[in-house]
Amino acid sequence: MSLKEYVYCDYAAGSPCRPEVLDVFNEYATRQYSNPGAHHPLAYVAKKHLWELHERMGRVIGADPREIIFTSGGTESDILALRGVMSNAEAPRNELVISAIEHHAVLLEAQRMEQAGTKVYYVPVSADGVIDRGALRKVVSERTTLVSVMYANNETGVIQPVKEVGEIAHAAGAKFHCDAVQAFWKLPLKPKEFGADLMSLAGAKFGGPKGTGLLYNEMTNRISPVIVGGPQEWGYRAGTEDLSGMAALATAMELAEAEREKIWPRVAAIRDGMEKRIVAGLGEHVRINGGNAPRLPNISNMSFLEIEGQALAIELGEQGYCVGLGSACAPGETDPSHVLAAMGLSWEDAIGCIRISFGPDITEQQAERLADLCVANYKALKGLG
Ligand SMILES: Cc1ncc(COP(=O)(O)O)c(C=O)c1O
Repeated sequence: MSLKEYVYCDYAAGSPCRPEVLDVFNEYATRQYSNPGAHHPLAYVAKKHLWELHERMGRVIGADPREIIFTSGGTESDILALRGVMSNAEAPRNELVISAIEHHAVLLEAQRMEQAGTKVYYVPVSADGVIDRGALRKVVSERTTLVSVMYANNETGVIQPVKEVGEIAHAAGAKFHCDAVQAFWKLPLKPKEFGADLMSLAGAKFGGPKGTGLLYNEMTNRISPVIVGGPQEWGYRAGTEDLSGMAALATAMELAEAEREKIWPRVAAIRDGMEKRIVAGLGEHVRINGGNAPRLPNISNMSFLEIEGQALAIELGEQGYCVGLGSACAPGETDPSHVLAAMGLSWEDAIGCIRISFGPDITEQQAERLADLCVANYKALKGLG
């Protein structure tokens, strides 16, 4: 099977870079190569571009150019947000609150801080994967420095009540960081509208190149840099600016935002149709994790009971479909997901899960065939007639 023939259903792990984005990247890499910090005519042009690119990235999310910190992706943005805020924290306000279903970029950084002595609260979620607001209210207090809750979960696609989370954080005088890596492209994302003080994005999830991302940081919020050295990115991220990466990211953001309303309703209908077809074929042998909660339009997380999701994913791969196994970034591939465990799934049910995440190129026929293959493979793996 040639690579082109595979049906790619793993957009939550990464999307193809758009050719027009790559053109912009190349254009900047080969023509706008001057260091914007230098002092000659070409450097002054680069400096002008630098400002304009921050302006363009900011415009898409309703932010000032000085509120955009270019990064290498979601992980760096998350760590800059957590470390940047928490390293300024002083008693009596020095506690961190995150949800139990955060991406490992947030979770492991929080655990690292905990080992170093920071008090960290992990707020539970419901069986549908939505943060428990009652539990959140109980732990957020005048001692809280930062609340970090994602916009939409990368494994289930479940959308979190981020506006309410922001209100709870602010009522206690704490800052709110939102990891919106999965939500951008699929949902309108204006941090000032939903109340985030910091927000992470990753270009590779919406048609940008790998190695590009940003942290939105509200103008009055002073954070400490993680990468220190030169004064670049408002002093928050040292190192010669990557103008080509920024131009590519700005272009990918504009293209993603422009097409958002047009493409995703169709994808959601295809995803729903596929799930219905699988449930019709397998009944109680399959569960849609987070299926009763509001979800992103493209993600489906299903537990196929009493088989291993990995076995099913391997079969589907041989039949031409690339699907995921929960998080692509989980340390230790066979560990059951911490997200599904937080939702109350048993080890057996969590191990039987696969994550299908469609892109705008999915067709109804491809999704129907995928559903039929899931049903047939499950029956074969279980030895059902
Ligand atoms: C919700 C979420 N946060 C953070 C990340 C990490 O982003 P990156 O791989 O760009 O570092 C991911 C990647 O899958 C993600 O889904």
